[in-house]
Amino acid sequence: MPHTYIRTKSDYKAGIPFQKAEHDFTLIIFGASGSLAKLKLFPSLYQLHLEKRTPKDFKIVGFARTAMAQEDFKKEFADAVRAKFKDMTDEKILASVLKNVSYFAGQYDSEIDYQGLKRHLEKIEKGKEKRVRLSYLSTPPSVFDAVITCLGKAKLDTKLCKMRLIVEKPFGYNYESAKALEATLTEHFEEQQFFLLDHYLGKEPVFNLLSLRYANPILTSLIRGEYISNIQIHGLEKLGTEGRANYFDHVGSVRDMVQSHLLQILAFLTMDLPEKITCESVHRAKRNLIESLLLKDKKDSIVRGQYKGYVKEDGVTPKSQTETFVALRLFIDDLNWHNVPIYLRTGKKLKTQLTSVVIEFKPQPLQKNNAKLKPNKLVIQLQPAEKIEFHLLTKMGGSEVDFIPLNTGRPIYCSGDCLDEHSRLLLDVIEGDKMLFLEFPEIYAAWKVVDKITEYFSAEKPSLHLYEPGSLGPKASDQLLEKFGHTWHNSE
Ligand code: BG6
Repeated sequence: MPHTYIRTKSDYKAGIPFQKAEHDFTLIIFGASGSLAKLKLFPSLYQLHLEKRTPKDFKIVGFARTAMAQEDFKKEFADAVRAKFKDMTDEKILASVLKNVSYFAGQYDSEIDYQGLKRHLEKIEKGKEKRVRLSYLSTPPSVFDAVITCLGKAKLDTKLCKMRLIVEKPFGYNYESAKALEATLTEHFEEQQFFLLDHYLGKEPVFNLLSLRYANPILTSLIRGEYISNIQIHGLEKLGTEGRANYFDHVGSVRDMVQSHLLQILAFLTMDLPEKITCESVHRAKRNLIESLLLKDKKDSIVRGQYKGYVKEDGVTPKSQTETFVALRLFIDDLNWHNVPIYLRTGKKLKTQLTSVVIEFKPQPLQKNNAKLKPNKLVIQLQPAEKIEFHLLTKMGGSEVDFIPLNTGRPIYCSGDCLDEHSRLLLDVIEGDKMLFLEFPEIYAAWKVVDKITEYFSAEKPSLHLYEPGSLGPKASDQLLEKFGHTWHNSE
């Protein structure tokens, strides 16, 4: 269940500010029969309406290849919402969203179909052109080019606003293809029109990493290489490929999770803090950080794994060498971070569902001399339950000098203007705010890191360690850290 705080009547009365779409809009979802649309976008749109964050006039148009009756598409939309909100679904609200939903069947590469789409938009908008038109590419990346080109030619701008385009990751498959994607986009659109979406940036706790650093000088002074033994970033998933094996088998965990989500988390945690948070300064700082990442001695820095049984899944090539798990050791080429290893770990079909950041501090002499005493840590858990925890040591009473771990922390409940990631990001696009979207320079920087890893996979064919579904990945991932005197912080 989404744990979003639903605003109450008293919140509205108290006038607590909250983000809502101020502009009327039409949202066209390309790939409307796909899993992203059903799992994320339809529920998000319903939720925005439930929380009174939609404007007076909004329209949602599903675009996909299969011919479908309007009522059948509305049913798919409604079923997707009910599947997420279960018996909490407010049927009245859902019905009022459905009034604004329509479907248009077309081929992604047919310019004629986009002209048909234009007429469909004019019909449902009833001539009200004072609005924002948005196109969401929720299709497989293989058709991005066709959709962008046809959209560009169809000129779906309104009188007052250029059409905005939302492209969700993956942004290419490597550095070269990301460049090609940018070329296609810039051939047809101006930069301010396209929004490059990594949904992790819409997660409150991810952006909160930056806010925490700004708001707490204690943290700012502690998050420095001289005090830190190592940093760990975990993106552990219980689920497997969930019907997306066709896509996943072509990319693997490094491209799917590290290139985007994990490097973004790392950037928010360790980048230099600009004096003022602006869209430009944040993008620049992230880009600088990602550009400074180093991968030393690949053999000692990369472990890849695959869960047993993966190759038998539908959509996976029988002898697939695609990794469903990866553990990495990176460094930041900066005096402040000199020799501080950054361990990243992500995988599918693991024992736990956990996205977290762990900062392990250097041991004091007392800890060095007593293996029983655990290092001090700052744990920032991003999902599933958000919490911040300090792991300190406190002395036991009595004459013995004995210390036990003291965990101080508290869960963070969303109690303000909280939204799930796609809802928040959609509102940002409607309002034209690009802060939580990516820019190509940082995407290129991330591909340069990732390309080194995937090229190493193809050229040197390092062992692909098999692991049991429901485990914490292959043993080799533990050994990667043990070699340097570290261990993964596994607990939730
Ligand atoms: C997506 C990846 O970007 O993020 C998926 O393609 C992954 O493979 C997903 O499962 C994880 O997102 P979340 O929000 O569930 O942590």
